[in-house]
Formats: sequence, structure tokens, C-alpha cells
Amino acid sequence: MSKTVQLIIDNKSYELPVVEGSENEKAIDISKLRAQTGYITLDTGYKNTGATKSGITFLDGEKGILSYRGYPIEQLAEKADFLEVCYLLIYGDLPSTKEFNAFKENITNHTLIHEDMRIFLDAYPTKAHPMGILSAAVCTLSTFYPESQKQNRSDEAVDLTIQRLLAKLPTLAAWAYKNSIGHPVNYPKNKYSYCENFLNMMFAMPAFDYEPDPVVVNALNKLLILHADHEQNCSASTVRIVGSSQANLYASISSGVSALWGPLHGGANQAVIEMLEKIMVDGGGLMKWINKAKDKDDSFRLMGFGHRVYKNFDPRAKIIKKAADDVLNKLGIVDPVLDIAKELEEVALNDDYFKSRGLYPNVDFYSGIIYRALGIPTEMFTVMFAMGRLPGWIAQWKEMMADNQPIGRPRQIYTGSKERDYSDIHKR
Ligand code: CMC
Repeated sequence: MSKTVQLIIDNKSYELPVVEGSENEKAIDISKLRAQTGYITLDTGYKNTGATKSGITFLDGEKGILSYRGYPIEQLAEKADFLEVCYLLIYGDLPSTKEFNAFKENITNHTLIHEDMRIFLDAYPTKAHPMGILSAAVCTLSTFYPESQKQNRSDEAVDLTIQRLLAKLPTLAAWAYKNSIGHPVNYPKNKYSYCENFLNMMFAMPAFDYEPDPVVVNALNKLLILHADHEQNCSASTVRIVGSSQANLYASISSGVSALWGPLHGGANQAVIEMLEKIMVDGGGLMKWINKAKDKDDSFRLMGFGHRVYKNFDPRAKIIKKAADDVLNKLGIVDPVLDIAKELEEVALNDDYFKSRGLYPNVDFYSGIIYRALGIPTEMFTVMFAMGRLPGWIAQWKEMMADNQPIGRPRQIYTGSKERDYSDIHKR
């Protein structure tokens, strides 16, 4: 017999079904609660609400476990190619060699962007934040492929849109950067791998030859994998909710880019470096900043610390911290910001305020330091996160469509005025 829980309201008892996941996660199914009782549940920020069942990513915040389709993040980050992980997340299994080669080829063949789109990109002011450009440009892709508007449910058409998105996002990202520094854009080159191609579009210049450094390529591959999915986070939930209205995939992904931009989500990686630089320039010592973060009357937070679901440690942060050391060593870079980050981590991890609230460094704490070492400018950090998160957004959207999920539409508890009569404007 399946498990239920009992809810008692006004001395009346209701049986609610219990749903269990494959890793023993448990939920109370309240989908019929309002119809049965007249009550809804209230959970601002969805801190305790399961919005969907999902077979893509598992994470256990208490134990610090993260896996994609059952594969531990540690193994994927160590051994896999980012495009292999894209395939895994989107299609559910690791590809065979044949499937992988075909997938890679399709993506390589779609990296170019319509020239009209380039003209459109040229029109942005040079000070435009690349996340603003990226979000707009991804949505604009839908206008170049108007058929995508009606093709959410044909597997072939969806696959083509997926290939276009994975192929074109690095081009758009690199072009947004080139635009911000007023340099001519570089076109994609098919001889390169996914990561090499992006680096070439970012750093090649007409004035000198550029060859992507394998250390940089490997580090980028790892970072993209670590960011590739994180179950029902703010941007993935946004993609799902926009997609649930049957908006096209480009529009849905563009909304994910916008959601990611905020400093409490993907924008934290930029905010971390800005914070560390500020601490360095200030020279007033770390305790000043630790105390500011603890002061409830001060809006300052330690960026890169804390996580909605990880209250012990973020497994991605562990891998990234080690990778940051490796990359800086291999590239022979000494970055005082890394030393400040390590000191800050040490102090915070031994402070009761942070310990008692389960606040540990998250994925964004050290990723910015690696991006800096790779030569990626601070304003591009969140764009890098978006490139990594793209397959996750696509997988979440695809699963939502396959499950035929209803349009997302939360309820509310109204706290405004009671009904009152309109009065003429001259009498107010
Ligand atoms: N610095 C100082 N205090 C903090 C911090 C922080 N970074 N994060 C949380 N707290 C405190 C918060 O003030 C609250 O204290 P109290 O219980 O006394 O009111 C308590 O810890 C719980 O915080 P919360 O805001 O209720 O927790 P949340 O789950 O709503 O927020 C968070 C999670 C990530 C938004 C938050 O920890 C934060 O703002 N961190 C800094 C921004 C950041 O690094 N974001 C990147 C997240 S990882 C990338 C991603 O996947 O998006």
C-alpha cells in the first residue's frame, strides 16, 4: 500500500499521498489540497516546494552530493568532455562514440551566426553588459528561425534548435565581449573543439596569432561541466515556467539567462571578484568585512558564501578550489586575490555566525579566480556560467515538455485592501 500522511484541519482529517524519489527523497503531494480543503500552502521563495519530479540531476545538500543522470560530478569533471555531458543531460545517457561524433559535428556546423544578427549586435553601446546582450541575442535567434515558434513538439525540430543553441551561444558570448572592447569579432573555426573555438573567438586578434593553451582549454572544459545543471534553481525554474506557457525554446532559454544574471544567482561570480578586489584595495583587514557581513543593519553579504540547498559544503566548490590552485600553478600566475579568498574562507569557516547558518563557499567563490587566470574579464564571468548551464536549461525544458506539464501558475494569499468603491478623480 502506498504511503500517505494525515492532515487535520478544523478536526477534519485528510489523507495526502506521499511521493518517493529514487534516492529516497520524500514529498507530500498537495496537488488536490485546495480542492479538498480550501487551503493552499504558502512557501515564499519555494524553499520547501517540489515544483516537479525530475530524472536529470540529483543533489543532497546535507551530504554534499551532486550527480547528473546518476554520474557523480567528481567523475564527470575529471574525465568527461563538456559536449559529452551536454548529451548526457539532454538525452539521458552517455553517448556512444558514433552518437558523440554525430552530435559534435552537428554542433560544429551550426556555430556561425546570421550576418544580420551581427549587425544587430554591433548596435549595442560598448558599455553594455554582455549578459544583457546575451539574453536579448538568444531571444532574437527565435526571429531568425520563426518556425521554432510552432515546433516545440517535433523531436527533429527540437534537436535542431538544441544544436543551434549549443553551437551559437559561445559565438554570441565571444561577440558580446569583442563588442564591449570595440574590437572586430572573430568567426568560429571548425577545426577547433568546443572550448578551443570559444577561446579563439575571445582572444584571437588580427594583429597576432593565437593558439588556445591546453591548460586553459582543460580548465574551461571542467568549469563548464561543473556548471552544467543544478536541478530546480532560479534560472532552471524560470526556463521551465516560461516554457510551460509553450513559448519557444529560444525565448525560454533567454529568460534563463536573465534569471542567472542576478548577484544572488550566477552573477555572484562577478560579485565575488569585485568584493575581493575591494577588500584588497581597502587594506583594512578581513575582520572589517566579516563583521559587515554579520551585521543585520548592513546589506553587505560575503559573496560566494551560502547556498539555498548546500548547508554543509558545495561539492563543486571543492573541485574548483583545487582547479584554481592547479591552473594558477601551471600558468605561473600569482594572484593576490586568491590569497585573500583563501584567508577569507579560513576566517569565515571558523566563525560561529557562518558555521551556525551552514554558510560555506559555493561554486562561485573560486570560479572567478580561474576565469581571471584564463584571461576572461570580470563582466564575462556570468556569461561563462550561462554557457555551462545551457545544457541543463535545455534538459529541464525538454523533460517538462515530455512530461506534458501544465502551465506554471502559483497561487497567493491576498493581503491588500478589501473591496472598496471607486471615487471620481476630482473628489479625491
Ligand atoms: N553572507 C552573510 N550572511 C549570509 C550569507 C552571506 N553570503 N548568506 C546567507 N546569510 C545569512 C542570512 O542573513 C540569514 O541569516 P539569519 O538567519 O540571521 O537571518 C541566513 O544566513 C540564511 O540566509 P538566507 O538568505 O535565508 O538563505 P537563502 O537560502 O535564502 O539564500 C543565497 C541563499 C545563496 C541567496 C545566500 O546565501 C546569498 O545571498 N549568498 C551570497 C550570494 C551568492 O554567493 N550566490 C551564489 C549562489 S551559488 C550559485 C548558484 O547556483 O546560483
